[in-house]
Amino acid sequence: MSSQAWSAVDAYIADRLIGADAHLDSALSANAAAGLPAIDVSPPQGKLLHLLARSIGAKRILEVGVLGGYSTIWLARALPDGGRLVTLELEQKHADVAAANLADAGLSDRVEIRVGPALDTLPKLAAEAAGPFDLAFIDADKSNNANYFAWALTLSRPGSLIIVDNVVRDGSVLAGTDANAAGARALFDTIATEPRVTATAIQTVGSKGWDGFAIALVNG
Ligand code: SAH
Ligand code: DHB
Ligand code: MG
Repeated sequence: MSSQAWSAVDAYIADRLIGADAHLDSALSANAAAGLPAIDVSPPQGKLLHLLARSIGAKRILEVGVLGGYSTIWLARALPDGGRLVTLELEQKHADVAAANLADAGLSDRVEIRVGPALDTLPKLAAEAAGPFDLAFIDADKSNNANYFAWALTLSRPGSLIIVDNVVRDGSVLAGTDANAAGARALFDTIATEPRVTATAIQTVGSKGWDGFAIALVNG
């Protein structure tokens, strides 16, 4: 199978099970118009995040890496009335585009974007006792994944889910020599020796190529 075929099947899945969505579609258009890289989660992946958040009844969600807010819209739509999502973003420009997309989607009331390096904002969230978060989605600079995972765990409760994107990256997790691959391996090493979670990772193919995500349940 080629990546072209993976994309065609992703388009089929999106056509059958997701369909056109004015707010999600216009968010991707706005991202492209603003020159943001098209590295959002795919529609089927976004819907998976949404389903996971709904299936655990998440009321508080933490995201690391907002870009234009595409994954954020999927996650925020899973929240019940009164639910909150806090998302952390390094780039002011990305945060501005995301804020506009979230406003367009009618979600501004439940989403807070904090601008700055996540390794600065995460300790502040902890100091404010902003947690616990029922679900964390980690999708920023991959070299810091192990650190983000540790903070997500600090900000969790038993029963929380921690999901990390891009942990396979064309298989580079095995022998890749760049900082992203090293970050992926550091994440696996952290999870492997962390008794407070039960975890797996799933490889994926689709419109975003060959990649995967890790998913960890915080134990009771
Ligand atoms: N979750 C988004 C995609 C995020 S792309 C979606 O699926 O729609 C990764 C984002 O992480 C980018 O916007 C990038 O600017 C941001 N990022 C990179 N380094 C960061 C850091 N140190 N702290 C916070 N965000 C960071
Ligand atoms: C990149 C980042 C992502 O979050 C992603 O899903 C795909 C690619 C990147 O930085 O290249
Ligand atoms: Mg990603």
